[in-house]
Amino acid sequence: MIVMALSASVTLIACKDPVETRREPTNDVKARGLAAIERAGCGSCHKIPGLDWPAGRLGPSLEGFDDVGLIAGALPNRPDVLAAFIRNAPGVKPGSTMPPMPVSASEAEDIAAYLYGIDHD
Ligand code: HEC
Repeated sequence: MIVMALSASVTLIACKDPVETRREPTNDVKARGLAAIERAGCGSCHKIPGLDWPAGRLGPSLEGFDDVGLIAGALPNRPDVLAAFIRNAPGVKPGSTMPPMPVSASEAEDIAAYLYGIDHD
């Protein structure tokens, strides 16, 4: 896990201008959301638009997220619920296999905004 995180940041520094990999950096909130996603390492389990690598397969792809009916098949698809799920999935959906993530409340809100904003390809 540590090795993966390290090589992820090395890859980003070595061969990519992170700005170029962002598909929708239209406003500050989305840019902050993507930065928080990168910091928290969501990509190790999820394919996330705007994040070239890693694109993990353990969790569902987060492409077209605002089209999903229920978050993780169980929760109403609203920004506040999504933010709560991102911080503590098993806390809001008992038995969820996504671990609690070390992001702040405001980072989770930014991430939720980012995920809702990335459906248009
Ligand atoms: C260790 C692997 C892992 C990590 C890291 C992880 N997730 Fe997940 N995620 C999962 C799994 C597994 C599920 C399915 C959970 C379920 O169905 O209860 C999931 C589900 C989700 C869902 C619901 C998807 C849907 O289609 O309804 C969202 C949104 C999500 N994760 C966002 C994030 C974000 C944002 C981060 C980073 C802060 C993150 N995840 C980090 C494994 C992970």
